[in-house]
Amino acid sequence: MDFSDQRLSYEKGELDQQLVPRSPFELFKSWMSEALEQQVQEPYAMSLATCGADKKPSVRIVLMREITDSGIIFYTNYESAKGQDIAENPNAEVLFFWHELERQVRISGHIAKINSDKSDTYFQKRPHDSQVGAWVSQPQSGQIANREIMEQTFEQLKTDYPEDKKVPTPDFWGGYEVTIEEIEFWQGRANRMHDRIVYSLDKSYKNEDGASWVTKRLLP
Ligand SMILES: Cc1cc2nc3c(=O)[nH]c(=O)nc-3n(C[C@H](O)[C@H](O)[C@H](O)COP(=O)(O)O)c2cc1C
Repeated sequence: MDFSDQRLSYEKGELDQQLVPRSPFELFKSWMSEALEQQVQEPYAMSLATCGADKKPSVRIVLMREITDSGIIFYTNYESAKGQDIAENPNAEVLFFWHELERQVRISGHIAKINSDKSDTYFQKRPHDSQVGAWVSQPQSGQIANREIMEQTFEQLKTDYPEDKKVPTPDFWGGYEVTIEEIEFWQGRANRMHDRIVYSLDKSYKNEDGASWVTKRLLP
C-alpha cells in the first residue's frame, strides 16, 4: 500500500505563545473539554510509552481516569508488562491525538503508584463484571493457552462473587500517576507550519502564579 499522495491541510486552530494560559493544566483541561464537546470518542484514551531495563520501548493505550494538580492517573495491573517496565524505569511518555481537532498533546514525566485507598475507591466504582475481569487477567500480559480457560475462570469467579457480593480489590491492581514534567501542545496548521508550544518545569523559576512552568515554541 502506498499512502504518499494522501494529505490533509490542518486548519482548525492555532496556538499563540503570548496567549496560552500560564498553567499547562488549564490548557490541557480546556483542550480535553473541547474534545468531549466535539464528541471525540474517548479523548481520555492515551498512548503510554514505557521502557524497561532492556531499553526496548513499549507502547499501548490506557484510559486516563483523572487529571490531578500534578499529573494524570490511569489504572492497570501492576504485574503487567508495563508494570514491570515502570518498576525498572519510572520515566514515561504519554500521547493524546484528537484527529477531529487536529491536536496532539505529548507528556513526559515520571510514574509512581498512587495510594491503595484511592485505587480501592476507583476499583469499587467499576461495574461488577469488570471487577471480576481484573481478577481473571492475572498476570496481565501473561500467556494463556486459549480463550476457554479465561471464560471458565470468569464464570467460576462470578459464582464465587455473585452480583450482590463485594469483589475485593486485587493487590496486584491499581493506579499510577504520571507527574507532568514537560507537556507539548501541538495544533496542526496549513502548509506544515504547525504550532508547538512546550511547557517545562524549571524549579529555579517562578511565574506570576508562583509556578515553575516555562514555555517555548518549537519548530514543527
Ligand atoms: C481503548 C483502550 C483502552 C484501554 N484501557 C486500558 C486501561 O485503562 N488499563 C489497562 O491496563 N489496559 C488498557 N487497555 C489495554 C492495553 O492497551 C494493553 O493491551 C494492556 O494494558 C497490556 O499492556 P502491557 O502488556 O503493555 O502491560 C486498553 C486498550 C484500549 C485499546
